[in-house]
Amino acid sequence: MKISRATTGDGHKLYIETYGCQMNVGDTEIIVSIMQGEGYEYTRNIEEADIILVNTCSVRDNAEQRIWGRLKEFHRYKRAKRSLIVGIVGCMAERLKEQLLEKEPIVDIVAGPDSYRDMPKLVAAAKAGGKGVNVALSQEETYGEIRPVRLDSNGVSAFISIMRGCINMCSYCVVPYTRGIERSRDPETILREARECYEAGYREVTLLGQNVNSYRWKCSEEPVVFPKLMEMVAAIAPDLRVRFATSHPKDLSDRFIEVMASHPNICRAIHLPAQSGSTRMLQIMNRKYTREWYLGRIAAIRAAMPDCAITTDLIAGFCTETLEDHAETLSLMREVGYASAFMFKFSMRPNTYAARHMTDDVSEEEKTRRLTEIINLQNELSAESNRKDVGKTFEVLIEGHSKRSEAQLCGRTSQNKMVVFDAAEGLGAGDYVKVTITDCSSATLFGKLLTE
Ligand code: SAH
Ligand code: SF4
Ligand code: F3S
Repeated sequence: MKISRATTGDGHKLYIETYGCQMNVGDTEIIVSIMQGEGYEYTRNIEEADIILVNTCSVRDNAEQRIWGRLKEFHRYKRAKRSLIVGIVGCMAERLKEQLLEKEPIVDIVAGPDSYRDMPKLVAAAKAGGKGVNVALSQEETYGEIRPVRLDSNGVSAFISIMRGCINMCSYCVVPYTRGIERSRDPETILREARECYEAGYREVTLLGQNVNSYRWKCSEEPVVFPKLMEMVAAIAPDLRVRFATSHPKDLSDRFIEVMASHPNICRAIHLPAQSGSTRMLQIMNRKYTREWYLGRIAAIRAAMPDCAITTDLIAGFCTETLEDHAETLSLMREVGYASAFMFKFSMRPNTYAARHMTDDVSEEEKTRRLTEIINLQNELSAESNRKDVGKTFEVLIEGHSKRSEAQLCGRTSQNKMVVFDAAEGLGAGDYVKVTITDCSSATLFGKLLTE
């Protein structure tokens, strides 16, 4: 069937706001690329927008509440410009589908994460006075050949989506329902994108997926698995840093650790979400590993790369969590000595396994108390991890001026820690320098340039 071409954008202005994870940031860049190809113009100024899109997140209830609040604020733009089109895209669009149209009448478009090629048609339907809805999930869509328009980039580090969806079905998590089945992107298109980034001056690429280490591209001969893909990207240039997020502990193979350890330009940083330190909780969460397995993986990483920073995600107060389970999370944190962590209160998500089969039985007050303990401990651990760096010298990739002062530069170590130091003639974004750490806070390292 021949699909008729969508009407062109005629220079209409598209404004887009992004919530949620890096995958959404990447998707926004794909949407803008598709829309620009149809003649729409991207704007950062909401006041002049003809189309407002909101790329949404459903992972916790407060993420969705924030978006409902934002939609209320859009009413005034619609009152000022009656032809304004408002679209909800991404995970919340996928989760709520047509319900969004009923709950919020200013919404004209509802588009799930696999329907972005259809965006121009959905906008055309809305322009014609109808509603544009596409929430079909796909088993193949990876937007492989689409060149993202890099929007908020510092020109030094770029994110490259290498896969979409997730099939892990952690019992608390909505992502498999909002993003569909896991699928990997053709490595040729990934390599091309990484090479183009390097040629454009980028010096760091982060390979993105909900579970990057289960990346697998099946072609006629041997499949390309994640360690192989990392090797191929690392081979582009020795001064191109390679990062990746997020890894799942169950898929962290010895081969993966070997490849990391043998490539100096694969960064010494692994984000390895533990979620809990209690094997009983991990089992209820359907994480498919135990505390002992997790600690075994940490030991293997440390043996191969003693200087590797390890960071994590933790959930406080999941269904049935006892004080003993919580204490095990705290003890796991101490045992690993995380450099940093993202920490959350459990939020029951509709339709997940937990919502269908479990009870949200830890009180809000108790969740808050446990989360506070976790955060306080992590602050100590982050400060301690940073204190250990004082006196050491690191290679830093400069990202630009520090937020506070033009007289200072900032950049990251291979361990992904931010370093601030005094600027010097001729140095700028994209340069590598050696910096000796002289001081730190729990969030930042401070240092001085090593001058030989
Ligand atoms: N795919 C990644 C991250 C997914 S979402 C991974 O598996 O590691 C990011 C984080 O949000 C998760 O790691 C988890 O810590 C948190 N999260 C997911 N669902 C949640 C929920 N229902 N309540 C609270 N936190 C949640
Ligand atoms: Fe969610 Fe688990 Fe998939 Fe991560 S691995 S996205 S927590 S289901
Ligand atoms: Fe949120 Fe969807 Fe990412 S639910 S965390 S935007 S995959």
